[in-house]
Amino acid sequence: MKNVAKKNQIMKQRKTTKIGIIGTGMLGNAIGQHLLKLGFDLIVYNRTKEKTNQLKKNGATVADSPKNVAEKSELIIIVVKDAAAVKEVSFGKNGIIKGKHEGLTVADMSTINPIESKKISEKFLKYKIIKLDTPVMGGPNVAITGELVLMVSGNKKTFDKFRDVFEKIANKIFFLEGDGTAHLIKLAMNLQITMLALALSEGITLVRSANVDPKIFLDILNSTYFKTGMSENKAYKMIQDEFDTTFTLANLKKDIDAITKTAKLLGVKLPMIKKANEIYKNALREGLGDIDYTGILAYIKKVNNS
Ligand SMILES: NC(=O)c1ccc[n+]([C@@H]2O[C@H](COP(=O)([O-])OP(=O)(O)OC[C@H]3O[C@@H](n4cnc5c(N)ncnc54)[C@H](OP(=O)(O)O)[C@@H]3O)[C@@H](O)[C@H]2O)c1
Repeated sequence: MKNVAKKNQIMKQRKTTKIGIIGTGMLGNAIGQHLLKLGFDLIVYNRTKEKTNQLKKNGATVADSPKNVAEKSELIIIVVKDAAAVKEVSFGKNGIIKGKHEGLTVADMSTINPIESKKISEKFLKYKIIKLDTPVMGGPNVAITGELVLMVSGNKKTFDKFRDVFEKIANKIFFLEGDGTAHLIKLAMNLQITMLALALSEGITLVRSANVDPKIFLDILNSTYFKTGMSENKAYKMIQDEFDTTFTLANLKKDIDAITKTAKLLGVKLPMIKKANEIYKNALREGLGDIDYTGILAYIKKVNNS
């Protein structure tokens, strides 16, 4: 009985929302895989087509352009690198606006600067398309099971129309008043990630320098109020020099740039992010951009060996 009910529910979803995903990098691919598993009809586009292969194999339709995705979707989820990429897929050649139709809604899950995001929403409105700000916390490892944390700002009525879809993608949703607020908080979240990865890396390096096993440091840290998800999980991989990528160091640096730009526009001084920016910039120069952001430890190690 339970299985029949589940099958009916899946069939119902299949008939309801037509979803498009633009950007099938690490995060977009994982969200797509999860939606396909639930039985949603999915149409996907990625600039580099090969990155849609896995989704195609699991039942997604692959489009040749964002325009093509727009024509066949009710809700488009954008998951691309930065604001320039969001503009490109939205308003560029064969962009989303070229495939606009009544009721088309766009949800931007990329991490971008809130001021740019507001401008993008305003431009979409000129084409009568409502764009929601929908940045997320959590990587591909939790997106694959629909356990992201979603921050939403924008038109509440439009959000409610697609709430059932968002509830499949995330297990925690925060609706925030004011265009751009979700992206602003997302940047404040990534500021935490920036500092946590650095603090762990320097703590590990400090204890190692005195020949103390960094696992002891982590075990003690994790017995205290100061533990984090990062110190309880990724940190144990860091001390094994395992930096399997779920979120690249290059993408975190891109977010540090967005934090810096946003702080400047808001007229606020953030001395720590200024220092961190230098460190992550140097790590990129050392060619560490494609590894996981926790690979900032590899950079601290390099600094100490030189
Ligand atoms: N991974 C995470 O844990 C995580 C968590 C929360 C939020 N995010 C955010 O989600 C977004 C995607 O992250 P990701 O980890 O999936 O990154 P990723 O694997 O590096 O993928 C980036 C995606 O952006 C596309 N892209 C870049 N520049 C483009 C352009 N000019 N025009 C069209 N497409 C372009 C890439 O297309 P190509 O394949 O052609 O390069 C690719 O699909 C980022 O904004 C990131 O900050 C990531």
